[in-house]
Amino acid sequence: EKGNYRHFMLKEIYEQPETVGRTMTNYVDEFRLSADAPEGLGFAKIDRIIIIACGTAYYAAMVAKYWFEQIADIAVDIDVASEFRYRSPVVSQDSLFIAVSQSGETADTLAALRYCKDKGLRTAALVNVMTSTMAREADIALPINAGPEIGVASTKAFTSQLTALASLTLAAGRARKTISRDAEIRLTRALTQTPRLIKEALLLDESIEAIASDLSGKSSAFYLGRGAQTPIALEGALKLKEISYIHAEGYAAGELKHGPIALIEDGTPVIVIAPYDTLFEKTVSNLQEVASRGAFIILVTDETGAASAKDMADEIIVLPNSDSFVAPIVMSIAIQLLAYHTAVARGTDVDQPRNLAKSVTVE
Ligand code: F6R
Repeated sequence: EKGNYRHFMLKEIYEQPETVGRTMTNYVDEFRLSADAPEGLGFAKIDRIIIIACGTAYYAAMVAKYWFEQIADIAVDIDVASEFRYRSPVVSQDSLFIAVSQSGETADTLAALRYCKDKGLRTAALVNVMTSTMAREADIALPINAGPEIGVASTKAFTSQLTALASLTLAAGRARKTISRDAEIRLTRALTQTPRLIKEALLLDESIEAIASDLSGKSSAFYLGRGAQTPIALEGALKLKEISYIHAEGYAAGELKHGPIALIEDGTPVIVIAPYDTLFEKTVSNLQEVASRGAFIILVTDETGAASAKDMADEIIVLPNSDSFVAPIVMSIAIQLLAYHTAVARGTDVDQPRNLAKSVTVE
């Protein structure tokens, strides 16, 4: 039931303080401040992780690549399932395969799981539906426990996928001894703060709605990010296009000058995802490059970032400060609300966008 919400999507956006907290209880011991992963994943011994998914779940995998490589020093290959399954991928027995899928039924992702299982890899499925085919067929089923997601555009499943993958990263870091106990405590504490930070982010709803009313009159938009915010830029563009039908592209900010900048005209909206982290200055310089070509800049940042760059944007969305580890989760709330309100302003069918199905069980 939608309760007091106008759409399932909005209800699901608002559930996220709770759903992210629930995901965490499957992995994080809040008293010991450490994360646990099922033994069978074998984090201490593997030499590589292969994460396969589609759509929004693929962007969660992309964030996880940054995390696992930086924190747990494991090589991570990611791919969209429809490409992976048909390109004769070379896989080694020492790799761990993880499928990420809200439904656990997506045909291409399931085929990728079966391919790797046949090759003798240890397989895991990170799913929302624990009775799904992937959960049954993988060696290890990993829950996100976000509750049923009705809106076709994925929101709470995405932040729960991120939360579970962040937890697994910390467990892998401990198993592989790549992080000190102090670092583990700091990162785990940061993760346990996310439900509160999401709650604060949701308070921006009205101000984001006002910005969305400007965006709703545009015919195309660009999203930029760097590092672990790159997938959030891609996800922001996906959310916007699927429910508002505005043409939207996400790019790694550093790629801009290699082509896409040619599309920037006077008034072209560019949504820049840039919390104050080690890449902030670099992203801001990309922001200036497009601003000087007339782009309409919507800066999505945190309090520290806002203090340093607020004069450079036409509109600004200021999220609470967070550890850069969990910032992709916090930033997600802004891009979801922005897409939602833009679509509502355009009068589209937010919960049932044209041409889309909730679960893609055909190739
Ligand atoms: C986008 C969206 C889709 C799904 C994709 C994978 O909002 O919902 O891109 O993320 O179809 O679905 P699952 O996660 O069920 O495998």
